Amino acid sequence: MIAIRNVSKVYEGTKNPAVRDLSFDVPTGEVVALIGPSGCGKSTTMRMVNRLVEPDSGTISIDGEDVRSLRPETLRRHIGYAIQGVGLFPHWTVAQNIGVVPGLLQWDRTRIAERTHELLDLVGLDPAVYADKHHDELSGGEAQRVGVARALAADPPVLLMDEPFSAVDPLTRDRLHAEFRKIQSALRKTVLFVTHDMDEAAQLGDRIVVMRDGGLVQQDTPERVLAYPVDDFVASFGGTERALRRLSLAPVTEALYTPNTAGAEGPSVASTASLREALAIILKAGLPSIPVRDGDGAVVGAVSVESIVERFRRPLT
Ligand SMILES: Nc1ncnc2c1ncn2[C@@H]1O[C@H](COP(=O)(O)OP(=O)(O)OP(=O)(O)O)[C@@H](O)[C@H]1O
Ligand SMILES: [Mg+2]
Repeated sequence: MIAIRNVSKVYEGTKNPAVRDLSFDVPTGEVVALIGPSGCGKSTTMRMVNRLVEPDSGTISIDGEDVRSLRPETLRRHIGYAIQGVGLFPHWTVAQNIGVVPGLLQWDRTRIAERTHELLDLVGLDPAVYADKHHDELSGGEAQRVGVARALAADPPVLLMDEPFSAVDPLTRDRLHAEFRKIQSALRKTVLFVTHDMDEAAQLGDRIVVMRDGGLVQQDTPERVLAYPVDDFVASFGGTERALRRLSLAPVTEALYTPNTAGAEGPSVASTASLREALAIILKAGLPSIPVRDGDGAVVGAVSVESIVERFRRPLT
């Protein structure tokens, strides 16, 4: 677990704290999304975890060990860091950039080459085309994906990702989100990531931490942040589609009722779909309710506009 306790930071020559009395946890194996307006202290918070910036007060520990008791080099070998704005070494190739931490850990060449290949595939860049390119031969989104591959290279248990997908087009981003969720469900890394995008925070985060002016405004599960924003500022981050965002976080099974009154013919929804997907199918079909099918195609019940509204109204625990 990463435990951040009463941490504050004022940069030299500045008046206002970049981070003020900030406390929150990133539980082991979970993903925390840090969200807030530009300049609110998100990157500073990350950089204090791996000691690129030292806090003025407060403590940060990883699995109970104060990060100040660890050498910065040791720390950075065990924490994958995808830097905001990428930060690739310009004179190195893509493969050399990805292999930097494995190299420090003295992996042999073959293992580094195999790992680089695997990671380029993972982030959707053909190794045959990209491995030997330099930074100035990459688009912004490609460079960003190399930065993510570099953070993952040595398979670190802790990941810090500062706006890792901001420069990537929506289709590629969806694919990377899906990959990220797949990796995360298998490897259960402890992840702190920064985003400006509430959808991304809600899709990838187990919890969301909202910051403003260096301090914490709200921390909770995505659905609760969207359902119960503590103030107008947090609500505005949810956007005008806050309600629809909430629906995309709840599985259709939460509004399922039996017996199925929608008949077995016509459009149906998979039991693994979200309430938002179910509502979209209902609207497209122009029907008040549709059957829900399990993985074998068997009808297990139905979902209706009413049952969705009812689920939406129910208080969250
Ligand atoms: N090295 C530095 N020296 C002085 N001030 C800094 C330094 N780095 C950041 N700041 C200031 O600290 C505040 C927080 O910056 P930080 O980079 O943490 O914000 P952020 O939330 O990551 O913003 P963004 O969303 O734009 O990346 C800002 O006011 C910024 O100008
Ligand atoms: Mg930043």
